[in-house]
Amino acid sequence: MNIAIFSSGGGSNAAVIMKTLGSFIKKETASLAVVISNNEKAGVVNIAADHNIPCEIILLKNKTDAQQTEAYFKLFEKYKIEFIVLAGYLKKLPKEITNAYPKKIINIHPALLPAYGGAGMYGQFVHKAVISAGETQSGITVHYVDEVYDHGQIIFQEKCAVEKNDTAEDLAKKILGLEHKFYTEILADTILSQIPVK
Ligand code: GRF
Repeated sequence: MNIAIFSSGGGSNAAVIMKTLGSFIKKETASLAVVISNNEKAGVVNIAADHNIPCEIILLKNKTDAQQTEAYFKLFEKYKIEFIVLAGYLKKLPKEITNAYPKKIINIHPALLPAYGGAGMYGQFVHKAVISAGETQSGITVHYVDEVYDHGQIIFQEKCAVEKNDTAEDLAKKILGLEHKFYTEILADTILSQIPVK
């Protein structure tokens, strides 16, 4: 199964996945075929090169929805993509894509969905909102992606404590640690759970 990873920014989750996926799932079963980013300056561009994985940039600005959809599908065809991993991808995928890949797209969100999700809830905005609400717990959510932001079926969650004096940066660090610890394994388990037993 050919996997595409999407990332817009630092790419630390993508880096962990590139490094460790092979220890959770055999290459012949599933492997990373391409990295896709909407940002040519994203950290993931160099990380992909270090791992000899092709990286494609889709510049979405000035493209209509239909043109964006076409650009995504073209890449999926080129790399024969069957599974998609969002790892810090800040653009919403068109519904033609989410409809074409039901239960074949997963995302990681740095909070316990359904709370603290939706448009505008990314990066520090999430952690600031969690802290201002006085929550004592936060965590990570891995979920399938459908056409609504942060809405698809939840696959996995892991909690962490929010301490009284935690800043948004403290919480971000803790949560990123959890993401790196769990995302690759959950990705591999999700793919394996979908392969019919012979
Ligand atoms: C992570 O916190 C993830 O939950 C969110 O975007 C961030 C990406 O971080 N979807 P990185 O680019 O993997 O370092």
